Amino acid sequence: MYAQMVKSEATKEDPEKLAAFQARIDAGEKIEPKDWMPQGYRKTLIRQIGQHAHSEIVGQLPESNWLTRAPTLERKAILLAKIQDEAGHGLYLYCAAETLGVSRDELTEMLLDGRMKYSSIFSYPTLTWADMGAVGWLVDGAAIMNQVPLQRTSFGPYSRAMIRVCKEESFHQRQGFDVMMKMATGSPEQKRMAQDALNRFWYPALMMFGPSDKDSVHSSQSMAWKIKMNTNDELRQKFVDQTAPQADFLGLTIPDDNLKWNEEKDGYDFSEPDWSEFHDVIQGNGPCSVDRLRARNKAWDDGAWVRDGLLAHAEKKAARKVAAE
Ligand code: 3HC
Repeated sequence: MYAQMVKSEATKEDPEKLAAFQARIDAGEKIEPKDWMPQGYRKTLIRQIGQHAHSEIVGQLPESNWLTRAPTLERKAILLAKIQDEAGHGLYLYCAAETLGVSRDELTEMLLDGRMKYSSIFSYPTLTWADMGAVGWLVDGAAIMNQVPLQRTSFGPYSRAMIRVCKEESFHQRQGFDVMMKMATGSPEQKRMAQDALNRFWYPALMMFGPSDKDSVHSSQSMAWKIKMNTNDELRQKFVDQTAPQADFLGLTIPDDNLKWNEEKDGYDFSEPDWSEFHDVIQGNGPCSVDRLRARNKAWDDGAWVRDGLLAHAEKKAARKVAAE
């Protein structure tokens, strides 16, 4: 429906302008906010960047669940820094989206009333401390796999935001791997917890890359516009190829009997996630979907007095300036 809408809007645009725009994209030029762009390009970016920003913000919730129960002061400080980084990523991304003519408040309202999505992964619970390792290793690992290519995306503000985000995400991934390493080489109970976390997060991590290419609605147009640089399946394959040897190194087993190196394709064969579960989760029926939106709505309502205060202060300051002129 959305892809059709984007396409039909594209056909309404001036063909000469569209051709010139595509030539700029093909030549690897960056598109900046004041440049002419097709409405479909603008809408797709607002959808993708907005969803990405929401994911960074909602993604703080499953990790903050463990802040008060981190096993040492050092682990707590590291986790706290990581969660703060995610808030910063959300802010860069909201700013990038705002350059396209949508306000942060509008985007937030669309998240809060369920009109906009956030990444499926954050609708899953974090049940033990080992999940902090699995989230860093697998979830941030999958996020980097998707975001490194996005540093070359065609829209300037998004591309520049990604450069900063990726630097921090690679630290997040390493701290997650470090937690997993400690757990996997610790007591038998710690190793059991690490394996259990891997068992629960493996398929949801694979789902982060989106539906398989044959079912992806937006990929072909988004790739033509270099909003996406790779297909969902390409990145999922790269993630499995990178992660399977890491699991071996940790002495953990990926919960997939079909995982096997395939010499011919120079990559692993692996099982697809359960796509019906994925569709259920993105419709808002994940195990924690209701809790996540409730928490974000509460934060928004609780913060109303801060926003009102700041706005009143800004209005007063502007009125004083006008009076002085
Ligand atoms: N979670 C939720 N929704 C998803 C999804 C996922 N993992 N994967 C796909 N979808 C949705 C799409 O948004 C689209 O729905 P819509 O039309 O209602 O918007 C539908 O499923 C069809 O999928 P497509 O493949 O056609 O969608 P896209 O072309 O947008 O591809 C994507 C999906 C690969 C996630 C792409 O949007 C993308 O690369 N986004 C930027 C990266 C991003 O959002 N990352 C969030 C990860 S979490 C994170 O970064 C936090 C960090 O701290 C760990």
